[in-house]
Amino acid sequence: MKKKPVLITGATGFLGRHLLQALCQDSALQPIALVRNKKSWKSQNWTHGLKGVELLEGSITDAADWADDPRLEGLSGIYHLAAVVRHTRRDPEDMIHANVEGLLQILRVAGERKCRVVFISTSGTVGCFDSPSESADENAPYQEKTVGAWPYYASKIRAEREGRALAESLGVELVILRPPVLLGPGDHRMRATSHISRLLRGKLPFIVKGGMHFVDIRDVTQAMLRAMKIAKPRPVYHLSGTAYRLEDFLGTVAEIGRVSPPKLQLPSLVAKLLSKTSAILDSVLPPREHPILPDPVVFEMASKHWGLHSLYAKKDLGFVSRDPRETLTDTIVWLRENQPELKAKAAGDLNAAEL
Ligand SMILES: NC(=O)c1ccc[n+]([C@@H]2O[C@H](COP(=O)([O-])OP(=O)(O)OC[C@H]3O[C@@H](n4cnc5c(N)ncnc54)[C@H](OP(=O)(O)O)[C@@H]3O)[C@@H](O)[C@H]2O)c1
Repeated sequence: MKKKPVLITGATGFLGRHLLQALCQDSALQPIALVRNKKSWKSQNWTHGLKGVELLEGSITDAADWADDPRLEGLSGIYHLAAVVRHTRRDPEDMIHANVEGLLQILRVAGERKCRVVFISTSGTVGCFDSPSESADENAPYQEKTVGAWPYYASKIRAEREGRALAESLGVELVILRPPVLLGPGDHRMRATSHISRLLRGKLPFIVKGGMHFVDIRDVTQAMLRAMKIAKPRPVYHLSGTAYRLEDFLGTVAEIGRVSPPKLQLPSLVAKLLSKTSAILDSVLPPREHPILPDPVVFEMASKHWGLHSLYAKKDLGFVSRDPRETLTDTIVWLRENQPELKAKAAGDLNAAEL
């Protein structure tokens, strides 16, 4: 039987990696990964284990360059994961263009090919609050007042709004999934797991008062597969995980990773000032792999609470969030095995303990 083609954007990312691994297990499907650079794809070790993935070279914002590829004949669906994810106010134009225009172009391709689009948005469009007691379900309004000043979330709200309107006019089935922060093994871009890595490296000198909500990337992947398959999906699903106070989150990571948690808690305003100062230092010091401190936007975000729950994800998608300690343990183990600085530090700590 001929395999059904399915297109994946954002295939080189953290979530794309997990989704492709899952799709490669389905003998009825032919995964086609949209990548911006085939050479860069092939140079990444983790892609070598993926058998049978077809590569389509191009950008989500230049769909005309690749949308007529004959391998897309009979396309069964598009998983749209590609996005620029940057938590800063600096130079947001390319991010807004990729995140909004990218989705619109993907929807036009789906309109031509008459297939469903499963789009990964973010919990931050609706689930960001000043208090830990608040939580958003799928019918909650956009939180523009709270997150609108952060270009990444503003771009995702615009993408959802403009995407929904275009999908309706084209008659395209658009399923929006909203997860919070994704954690788990395999973050080869070291972005979503960067705070954990910073803590393990002993480079998180202080924290602010606020919240953190995360979900296991493997649970999200399974929900995505179901969202593509079920007969009558709803327009939006929340894939909620576990919400923590920030100090409890970092305390749990520190306990599992056997490192010291940050002892100092600063008011958010002071943290922002320090972050601005460190950004100036970063701009004059020799280039380094990690900035001295995260961007001020990261501290603004960290001072909020991220509340999310779902009315439908369990029933429709069979979505259940696993034990958060399992996610954190697997994340830490993977980072220590794959990040040279952490590997060296873990080996050094072990030697010191043996002396
Ligand atoms: N990670 C999280 O914690 C989290 C939480 C909630 C929602 N999400 C959403 O989940 C999705 C996947 O996140 P992720 O963590 O896997 O992201 P990621 O690791 O940063 O990967 C982003 C992907 O998008 C691709 N991309 C960006 N611009 C593109 C363009 N113009 N054309 C084609 N591809 C482009 C990148 O390709 P290159 O390799 O060419 O750069 C990469 O494959 C995103 O939509 C994100 O907003 C993520």
